[in-house]
Amino acid sequence: MITVAVTGALGRMGSLIIENVGDAPDMELVAAFDIRDIGMPVGAGTGTTGTGAGAGDVRVSDASEIGTLLASTSPDVLIDFTIPDAAVGNVRAAVENGVAIVLGTTGLEPYQDEIAGIIAGSVPAVIAPNFSVGVNVFWKLLAEATAYIGDWDIEILEVHHRHKKDAPSGTAMRAADVISKEIGGKELVYGREGLAPRGDEIGIHAIRGGDIIGDHLVLFAGDGERIEIKHQAHSRQAFAGGAVKAARWVLDAPKGVHGMEEVLGL
Ligand SMILES: NC(=O)c1ccc[n+]([C@@H]2O[C@H](COP(=O)([O-])OP(=O)(O)OC[C@H]3O[C@@H](n4cnc5c(N)ncnc54)[C@H](O)[C@@H]3O)[C@@H](O)[C@H]2O)c1
Repeated sequence: MITVAVTGALGRMGSLIIENVGDAPDMELVAAFDIRDIGMPVGAGTGTTGTGAGAGDVRVSDASEIGTLLASTSPDVLIDFTIPDAAVGNVRAAVENGVAIVLGTTGLEPYQDEIAGIIAGSVPAVIAPNFSVGVNVFWKLLAEATAYIGDWDIEILEVHHRHKKDAPSGTAMRAADVISKEIGGKELVYGREGLAPRGDEIGIHAIRGGDIIGDHLVLFAGDGERIEIKHQAHSRQAFAGGAVKAARWVLDAPKGVHGMEEVLGL
């Protein structure tokens, strides 16, 4: 049985991951952390139908007690979908307790080196700004298209729900990185206003509204034609399913940071 702890347990992603763990015959939830509704049975949180199956009688623990509780429950893996400030501390607590990590929190750019330093050689970890199979294939398609038409004008557009905190999305930033690497570096321009003539940049645009789960579109615009490569997530299950898959994979992975492309064998 793979024992799992979840941080951000009452969030949109955390609660769905707890449902997935509950439904997985080879997994058992042993700890769940958040900063609100402490003591609430998991599955009763917002945004989940919470079957509770497999979640046993696990209740939400105070995130400030993560060190002590990881030591007493000894999970095999910690799955974190929280906020960047919290994720760094959660990673540290996991490493101190020898717990493998699946990290899905986005907006980690300012903490990337710190997190890599904490994990280095201590535990296996999968860190990905997007755990969906489709988005990982989307990034591969972008690299392939860029190899042929990297000299066309390239714009990235991402659309998310009104509650998303960071912008542009981690997925859009990875798309820019994939394209940029393929053509040896490009300036990134975030939105445009006023006099803003196009240069040789990649434009990145973030739209927020309603309950849109996550759309990403990359426009390659040439003279007289264009190609659009687009991914749309219909449900958060696309991410939750990938995170659970990564949690199984990471247990046999070498210590250090891995990407979702390794989990999927892409
Ligand atoms: N990698 C992916 O595939 C993927 C997919 C979707 C969302 N995300 C990212 O996952 C993160 C969470 O997204 P969400 O939509 O579930 O957000 P959310 O706001 O619904 O949930 C975040 C949860 O974390 C809790 N939290 C805050 N500080 C905490 C702490 N110190 N310890 C424990 N819990 C804490 C909050 O109370 C909340 O319940 C965001 O960064 C989002 O961009 C990543």
